[in-house]
Amino acid sequence: AIQKTGLKDAYGADFLIGTAISNHTLETQNSELLGLIDREFNTITAENCMKSGEIQPSQGNWDWALADRFINFGVEHKKTIVGHALVWHSQVPGDFFVDANDNQISRDELIRRMDTHIQTLMERYQGKVSIWDVVNEAIDEDQGWRQSPWYEIFGSAEYMERAFHLAHEMEPDAHLLYNDYNMHNPGKRSFLVDVIRDYKRRGVPMNAIGLQGHVGLDFPNLTEFERSIEAYAAEGMRIHITEMDVDALPVAWEHTGAEISALEEYAEELDPYRDGLPAAIEQQLTDRYVEMFEMFIRHRNKIDRVTTWGTYDGESWKNDFPVQGRTNYPLLFDRSRQRKPAYYAVADLG
Ligand code: XIL
Repeated sequence: AIQKTGLKDAYGADFLIGTAISNHTLETQNSELLGLIDREFNTITAENCMKSGEIQPSQGNWDWALADRFINFGVEHKKTIVGHALVWHSQVPGDFFVDANDNQISRDELIRRMDTHIQTLMERYQGKVSIWDVVNEAIDEDQGWRQSPWYEIFGSAEYMERAFHLAHEMEPDAHLLYNDYNMHNPGKRSFLVDVIRDYKRRGVPMNAIGLQGHVGLDFPNLTEFERSIEAYAAEGMRIHITEMDVDALPVAWEHTGAEISALEEYAEELDPYRDGLPAAIEQQLTDRYVEMFEMFIRHRNKIDRVTTWGTYDGESWKNDFPVQGRTNYPLLFDRSRQRKPAYYAVADLG
């Protein structure tokens, strides 16, 4: 279907199409860009401003400015609003895991801080956020619980179920997600399937799984990605694709698994397309988006939402991750905020 007004209109209301909104966009209130977001997407995620380190930069000190703008934009334009993220090991305030003397806090104190964080944040936006990334990236690559400060101070992975119970109390009708990357990994999949079964048995109110969907042109293997969609859905979970983008560079970090130091040795590769993106790469990018969306559409009855991690190439985190100075092309809108061939291809599938 040709989009009536935007990408969201090519898909039905039962298959939401979203974008992450950057701090820069919220700070500048760029009306052209906000207009584009309003026209093209029906669900929005805050890329950074609701993370704990930004919204509660030190204990008890809250900074609501950007998050309020984000929520107000969503309410005003009737978007499905995603809260990202309540519990994560990254972008945490510097004083979160330590006391005034810089000693690691106790388990009881961690519980108190976690509860306060979740309750304060969810209470402020109660009734407005219908999807929450409750816990982000708690499982590591080698099939077990990530040994984060959350896990270590708590002494177990129980912090995760506590977070789900609390989130459910605060927002009983919300989609409550466990969200993670590299979800095609069979070890990660089977570990999470066991967690889902255990939670179901014991009544932990997790009801959806977020597959971030940061991919490269030829990584990961989509058969494995598809198996994960099927496996989580078979356990009764709704599926959200929460952070999709396609790294278009030849030395994609995801592909090589290279350490940052190794990537720095490829310094000349940071901006290989400075003279213009070759048509063959543009085509590969389009094909990759098509392949992914065809897979999503095959599982339309399981998937509630696909969100891209950013709106246009100029503001994508992939430009500077994991090494500053990379110039990347991962999204559906180019640096001039024009629709890319991948956009039209994805719209045509809807
Ligand atoms: C990224 C943001 O896009 C960057 O701007 C920030 O510097 C680091 O975090 N997984 C997640 C997201 O869940 O929150 C991350 O977002 C990307 C990886």
